Amino acid sequence: MHHSSSKAAWNPEHISTVWFDSHFNHAANRVIDWVGAELDIENAATMLDFGCGGGITTLGVALRYPSVQLHGVDIGDKFLQLPELAKEQLHLQQLPDNLHLHRIQPLQPLAESHVVDAVFNWSVFEHVPQSHIPVIFADLYNSIREGGLFFLQIEPFYHSPWGSHLRRFVDTPWAHLLWPSGRLQDAVMDYDGEIPAQHQGHQYQARGVENFKRFHLEEFNRLNGITADQITAYVRDAGFEILREQRLSMDIPVPEVLLEQYRKEDLLTNGILLLARKQA
Ligand SMILES: C[S@@+](CC[C@H](N)C(=O)[O-])C[C@H]1O[C@@H](n2cnc3c(N)ncnc32)[C@H](O)[C@@H]1O
Repeated sequence: MHHSSSKAAWNPEHISTVWFDSHFNHAANRVIDWVGAELDIENAATMLDFGCGGGITTLGVALRYPSVQLHGVDIGDKFLQLPELAKEQLHLQQLPDNLHLHRIQPLQPLAESHVVDAVFNWSVFEHVPQSHIPVIFADLYNSIREGGLFFLQIEPFYHSPWGSHLRRFVDTPWAHLLWPSGRLQDAVMDYDGEIPAQHQGHQYQARGVENFKRFHLEEFNRLNGITADQITAYVRDAGFEILREQRLSMDIPVPEVLLEQYRKEDLLTNGILLLARKQA
């Protein structure tokens, strides 16, 4: 699928990194499939990507639906690199007019300035302090029109085998729950193997290996430890009706010591895709 209308022409054949592909194709298409099951996206006016990060997924939706206004918001500014990246990976000359990326402050209210048909987020709510989640969900609920949709994805969950998000450095399942924290930190800092291409991202080139490791350890320390049951409860408490939910689970032997401390279900649930609706 290419677009041949001049400015917004893009060609997916140039995609060369697993990172770009996993956002532009995989994540964007999951969002489109799930939201599109309940909303005629073609005729939607506006969608919001909360925690858009580098904005690759937001761009993936924007280019596939040029008539829809796509807003991406994030507390960071990684999306400033998107024009250059899109030129390299899609031969896109400039970002499309229907894509709007904004930097926000944590807990900045969005409902004052946005009325949208759907909100989506990808790998965001395991990184936000848990106390912020009800506040953010209430605001997102208010920014969605009546009958509009809310899509959420989290993977991996904290209590799952590689829930530390550190698998690229430490392959031992549940190392973050089994080992003293110093051992995990040392294992990351001492790792000198290859970083698999799908885990490099653009941070890797930009930061160098040492800082890349420190960045991921900091990210690990900020994970909120939320479970699938907890996040769905927050979605319901915000007033949404859950329409569809898919929990991804793993089937590997769980160390006995973990079963004494955690629920088996939490230890083996590594992801969730969820679609909810604001009542009309
Ligand atoms: C793991 S990244 C995912 C980014 C993007 N959705 C993706 O799939 O590449 C999590 C993102 O959530 C953002 N974030 C964390 N707390 C936030 C908040 N309170 N408001 C908006 N974005 C937030 C972070 O800055 C980060 O870009």
